[in-house]
Amino acid sequence: MPTILMCPPDYYGIEYEINPWMSRSRQSDRALAVQQWEDLRGALEGAGATIELLPPVEGLPDLVFTANAALIYRNRAILARFRPEQRRGETPHVARWLTAHGFHLEEVPEEFAFEGAGDALFCGETLVAGYRIRSDARGHQWIAGRLGIPVLPVELVNPQFYHLDTCFCPLRPGSAIYYPAAFDDYALRALRAQIPNLIEVNAAEAARFACNAVVIGSTVVTNTGCPMLHAALKREGFEPVATELDEFLKAGGSAKCLTLRLDGEDAAGWRQRSGD
Ligand code: ARG
Repeated sequence: MPTILMCPPDYYGIEYEINPWMSRSRQSDRALAVQQWEDLRGALEGAGATIELLPPVEGLPDLVFTANAALIYRNRAILARFRPEQRRGETPHVARWLTAHGFHLEEVPEEFAFEGAGDALFCGETLVAGYRIRSDARGHQWIAGRLGIPVLPVELVNPQFYHLDTCFCPLRPGSAIYYPAAFDDYALRALRAQIPNLIEVNAAEAARFACNAVVIGSTVVTNTGCPMLHAALKREGFEPVATELDEFLKAGGSAKCLTLRLDGEDAAGWRQRSGD
């Protein structure tokens, strides 16, 4: 059963600026944010997911972005070590929740920043891992060694697409969505060599966070305003679902950022082998 961790937006807001999307002068509308979050939850449940809830905490407005909490690998959770100090207070809450729910916690060494599933996504056997802006390449190498898995570190060069999940989304082993302008040339060559079926998102839809999609079986949930991507997904046999998430774009997040898949993403090779 697909299981997803979400955190209700009770204390969500734009209280600081740690990426180019955030401006304290562009506040989010609390009621609208709650509505959009509930609609996303409904879309995910409609696709067959069970939603687990992380209790919201006052003073931690970005806790809603559970993708950053940790990287999940079987019953292991590699906790985030946030680059911006504004988000570091989230980790003890997440750690407590994950421990209480049976995960074995691991931490990257202190000298590395690591922002969880926001920057590390399995595509088949390989952990594709974004670095430079919010996570460190050597931290990804450390994780790969620790878990005994292959890693493909890819450099992110566009500050607007500061987490890997803003510009890349594995659909199934061998297939992914991506926005090429977010990556350096070497990363692009590596992605193209490793992943035979890459669906390219255009600049306008990338700015709607088209790549920040949640995949549940054949359903792919995104923000509204991504018609080209949705047409391409249909041609590939997926069922795209649009749900408006503009209040969360104001913080630099969308569908995928608001979720953490606790049983492993559909595209993860290890999950498919565990026979779920
Ligand atoms: N305001 C948050 C930050 O900058 C947004 C996080 C979005 N999460 C993601 N997985 N891309 O950290």
